Amino acid sequence: GAGGAAALERVMGGGPLSLVLGGLGVLLLFRMVRRLRPGARVRDSVVVITGASSGLGRECARVFHAAGARLVLCGRHAGRLQETVEELNETHPPSTVTFDLSEAGAVERAAEEILRLHGNVDVLINNAGISYRGNILETDLSVQRAVMDTNYFGPVALTQALLPSMVRRRSGHVVVISSIQGRIAIPHRSAYAASKHATQAYFDCLRAEVERYGLEVSVVSPGYIRTNLSRNALTGDGSQYGVLDRTTAMGRDPADVARAVLEAVRRRSKDVLLAGLLATVALYLRTLCPALFFKVMAMRARKEQRPEAAGGGGAGGGGAGGET
Ligand SMILES: NC(=O)c1ccc[n+]([C@@H]2O[C@H](COP(=O)([O-])OP(=O)(O)OC[C@H]3O[C@@H](n4cnc5c(N)ncnc54)[C@H](OP(=O)(O)O)[C@@H]3O)[C@@H](O)[C@H]2O)c1
Repeated sequence: GAGGAAALERVMGGGPLSLVLGGLGVLLLFRMVRRLRPGARVRDSVVVITGASSGLGRECARVFHAAGARLVLCGRHAGRLQETVEELNETHPPSTVTFDLSEAGAVERAAEEILRLHGNVDVLINNAGISYRGNILETDLSVQRAVMDTNYFGPVALTQALLPSMVRRRSGHVVVISSIQGRIAIPHRSAYAASKHATQAYFDCLRAEVERYGLEVSVVSPGYIRTNLSRNALTGDGSQYGVLDRTTAMGRDPADVARAVLEAVRRRSKDVLLAGLLATVALYLRTLCPALFFKVMAMRARKEQRPEAAGGGGAGGGGAGGET
């Protein structure tokens, strides 16, 4: 009643607290209003998914197919893509386009093929990627380039090839699957973390530049997901790591992450962080107290350097076995 209101006024007293609470209120209201906006229509839209033969990409194919999208599934191996196609029912049979993202010419030809299929692309999901385990001193420069080619130049080339048609139609949504490692760099992941940091920066620039054409850009940054990513990772000498890391095995269910990607498309979210508590704390530490963050990372690098800490199997000259 009136007493309560008076007490509240005494506590707030028009000071900084009321300013903070007022600010939070406005923020909450803003979020609620945004949520009320009608979501983007996914049914019958043309959705291109790279890396649809495995892990998160395959789950995205399932989720977007269930939402009624017309799918174009991409990967390097026709046979593996066909496995994804066969799992989905026949109402909207997906198309497939087979190409290697790390080959610039192949990406351009693939973009033409993609556009020929449906005439346009509504949503491009740049999901394909490769990870890396190794220490910098024992890593060939060719490996640093290879990871960059697949994770950074691949999505950039595909996006740039499809962008003019989106701009002409004044409609389109580009999604990129980055990683928490696009925001913080952890030791023995140099090539991967660098490629994801570059990804974050490029797509942040793109978002600002294409807003005037009504295009949307979403950067999705998940923590560990239960997929074959660590098994498929490259080591310092370019061989396959081949190990399912404990952190990856205990990671998020890829189906949950795929649903978050669908939600990001529907809500036109600009930046989605799917981080647990530890990753969130690390992110704040990197921003607010970098010296401490660097100390913790150096300790981690030392710990992983000890032979007994190595995760076994092709760790790229040792030191890459740390799993957290
Ligand atoms: N798993 C995690 O813990 C985690 C965490 C954060 C972010 N992510 C990101 O999530 C995305 C999906 O990874 P995932 O976890 O699902 O891994 P995954 O199971 O290893 O799948 C990777 C996919 O990328 C494709 N791919 C790899 N290199 C390619 C190339 N040069 N050209 C074309 N396609 C290529 C693979 O297809 P083919 O081999 O059939 O060509 C495969 O479909 C990646 O961008 C990854 O960085 C993963």
